[in-house]
Amino acid sequence: MRLLKASSSASAPLKVILFGEHFVIYNKPAILAAINKRVYVDINVRSDAIFAIRVSDLYEEASINHIEESKHQFTRLSQPIFITAYNTLRRFHSVLGLDIKIMSDIPFGSGLGTSAASSAALITAISDLFNTLNKDDIFALTIEAEKLIHYNTSGADPAIVTNGGLIMFKRREEGMLIIPLIYSTELSFIVVYSGISRSTANLVNNVKSLRENNPIMFERFANTSEEITLKAIEALKSKDYEKLGSLMLRNHELLQSLGVSNDTLDKLVDTAINNGALGAKLTGAGGGGSIIAFGYDSKRLLNAFKDHHVFIASIDKEGIRVE
Ligand code: MEV
Repeated sequence: MRLLKASSSASAPLKVILFGEHFVIYNKPAILAAINKRVYVDINVRSDAIFAIRVSDLYEEASINHIEESKHQFTRLSQPIFITAYNTLRRFHSVLGLDIKIMSDIPFGSGLGTSAASSAALITAISDLFNTLNKDDIFALTIEAEKLIHYNTSGADPAIVTNGGLIMFKRREEGMLIIPLIYSTELSFIVVYSGISRSTANLVNNVKSLRENNPIMFERFANTSEEITLKAIEALKSKDYEKLGSLMLRNHELLQSLGVSNDTLDKLVDTAINNGALGAKLTGAGGGGSIIAFGYDSKRLLNAFKDHHVFIASIDKEGIRVE
């Protein structure tokens, strides 16, 4: 396909999972919000067949021949990015070298969907070099990219970073269900980073083992997660924020039972509640990453976490975009 330009920039929002993480892999519903923090990707076409990637202080190169031969065996952190670039270019029947620069508002590993947002922004930027792929194509390619990092992905992170806004996401045998939810613009969250970077793949695998070893218990947890998430949709609709808060806490307790929380995350949740939060919970895979909390007095909450990486996140209605 004909190259229309030699460079492009695109971005995708980061996300928080409000309800239903982990169980979403097993066909239970989840609620996700895109937040007003983004990952930006700049690409420039090179004159040789090399991919070069720059992410903060990291700089790595790989030849396209090497990527073709690698059979997707990862030896380096940047490999999934190279393979995603390669696979996306193949959609346009193109073999091009690229300089890829990735910049994130929030550090990688913070549990806010940096990997899905990087892939979605990269795919959007590459497709902009030719003509634009539609959102469904970008979503599908972002799922493929996430699978390179953690095989058993639900598709929830790719769905929210490509679409933006607030969504209910459910994986089903017959395909994925993505329902945009109405929200009030006053809805915002405090996000507190635990300082512990973790691997989603490992946590997802731990949950998989727990499910295999205790199927009946897991089924009970999964049904509870579904019940909490469906009640949360009602609470969001009726703007019953007290209810929403108590459901968040229940969700956190459920994730504790699942074994994906830890002392650091539990303490952050307690601090939020002791400082006027209506609700708080870990968000994403757990094991580290971030917690979210919300309440009427955001200033008090911010102050309670002044020694942490903390920020107020509002919902970003926009998903992927060409910059
Ligand atoms: C990670 O952000 C969310 C998980 O539910 C994994 C997934 O949905 O693929 C833990």
